[in-house]
Amino acid sequence: MSVPCVRVSTDEGEATRRRLAEEDLLVDEYAITASDGDLYIPVSDPDAVPDDLTIVEFDAPERETPTTPAELLGFEPTYERLGDVVILDEDSPERAREIAEAVMESDVRAKTVVNRASKVKGTERVRDWDVVAGDGTETVHTEYGCEFELDLATVYFSPRLATERHRVVEQVQAGEHAFDMFAGVGPYAVPMAKQGAEVVATDINEDAIEYLRRNAERNDVSERVTAIAGDVRETADEYEDWADRIVMNLPHTADEFLDTAVALAGDDCVIHFYDFQHEDDRFGPCEAAIRDAAEPAYDVTVKDEHTVRSYAPHEFNVVVDARLTRR
Ligand SMILES: C[S@@+](CC[C@H](N)C(=O)[O-])C[C@H]1O[C@@H](n2cnc3c(N)ncnc32)[C@H](O)[C@@H]1O
Repeated sequence: MSVPCVRVSTDEGEATRRRLAEEDLLVDEYAITASDGDLYIPVSDPDAVPDDLTIVEFDAPERETPTTPAELLGFEPTYERLGDVVILDEDSPERAREIAEAVMESDVRAKTVVNRASKVKGTERVRDWDVVAGDGTETVHTEYGCEFELDLATVYFSPRLATERHRVVEQVQAGEHAFDMFAGVGPYAVPMAKQGAEVVATDINEDAIEYLRRNAERNDVSERVTAIAGDVRETADEYEDWADRIVMNLPHTADEFLDTAVALAGDDCVIHFYDFQHEDDRFGPCEAAIRDAAEPAYDVTVKDEHTVRSYAPHEFNVVVDARLTRR
């Protein structure tokens, strides 16, 4: 359809587009089109276009807007993305199937849609999934510029922790010794190594450690990451007194591993201790457990404590950053 457009040479196109955008004169419904060395930029009000620009009528094609699941469903579904896997949390299998069909038909990039079929469970904190559409639970997820290959069916991974992980990673200094006791596929370990840390990462889940090694390679940090499979209480002996920083992301049971963490700690070490706690006292029990394990060998100072996310009614996922300084 013929619409009013500003015609400019292609090398002036981006500057002109920006000028028109600043004046709020761009039209979303029609596409900017290149033809014979010129660019045709559809505008909403030709009379408001600055005089130095040329207005012509041009047959600009309608812009194709991506189709969203909500447009197909008539309601806004809730879902998370993990690479090209779409994750649902629906009680009703029919509703899950309906949403999955809409996701696959829409322009959302998805090879598989899965629905949560259990809570995270067992030592390895893996969940069951119903594959509702598509095929395969392996994917590559990008978080703050790092790529993580993983299989949701065999390892733990939550995209919801991205901001919290980034908060920790930003504190890491080049050359420091960082020990990730419950490392999963490496979403702390790999970016800590990218910051220049020497990283040791352990996990009892052999699949997770296999992915962690691949992820270290994928992100070009394998020379700074040592990945060890097994129970950290049994595999970390040679790193006693080694760590400047320890990540303990195993809420519920991390306190059972504080003696190991203290053995790993060097003279001055920050521990990032995660837990689930009741709203009435979110941080007190964490701090008490850390003091119980570390004192009197170390002075314990709480550097930071905050709520990562809500976990269940009146329960919160919390983190305490504690500095241990040898007396
Ligand atoms: C909550 S996940 C956290 C994974 C990772 N830090 C992340 O943010 O995605 C806890 C991890 O601890 C591992 N784990 C549980 N018990 C362990 C143990 N005794 N020694 C080492 N790893 C353990 C599980 O296999 C799981 O991958």
